[in-house]
Amino acid sequence: MYEQYNERTFCLNHPLLGHKLTTIREEVANTDTFRRITREIGTIMAVELTRSLPMTTKRITTPLASMSAPTLDCKKLCLAPIMRAGMGLLDGFSDIIPLARIGHIGLYREHSTLEAKEYFCKMPSKLDERLVILIDPMLATGNTAVAALDMLKERGAKNIIFANMVAAPEGITKVNTEHPDVKVYTVAVDEHLNENAYIVPGLGDAGDRTYGTR
Ligand code: URA
Repeated sequence: MYEQYNERTFCLNHPLLGHKLTTIREEVANTDTFRRITREIGTIMAVELTRSLPMTTKRITTPLASMSAPTLDCKKLCLAPIMRAGMGLLDGFSDIIPLARIGHIGLYREHSTLEAKEYFCKMPSKLDERLVILIDPMLATGNTAVAALDMLKERGAKNIIFANMVAAPEGITKVNTEHPDVKVYTVAVDEHLNENAYIVPGLGDAGDRTYGTR
């Protein structure tokens, strides 16, 4: 379940999410711990974000009888991680929704201007018919998220939500303003961005901490 931060932004407040985020925020958490727990957070976020997905039914046969049973059309979902930090959360999402399609978005943050630069994009077909979950652990300036949302919409996506673990108020405002149709789901809204556009208190560089490249 969630607390509403504003009209379009929701804080997932499951106690396990808060606890796990605290663990990976700590600077003593090593790469192994960071990657494993980020994956677990991804799984819990996937459970929370798929609560309202439409269900259909299909005929199945149990060992005792046939019945009409509820089912989800997982192929109608597209998980869209922003490389590379989004891959850690993606693993947790795809553990629990293995049939979801996955579209990769390659964007890097140009260090001097903080602008997002595209270097890769490969999406599944019929994006307009899918719920697309954009995945990036950190919502900082919002430049990368806005660029990723632009890329998804240029390729036809109409129904998009954005999943992240830690958000800065500046980034939330930017995404809410530029893409008012996109709901933002986070675990924590932190205080502010520092002069290098890192979230404070945050957790540092999510990509470096996931892959041990610091
Ligand atoms: N990206 C990160 O990995 N961390 C931040 O604090 C901001 C952007």
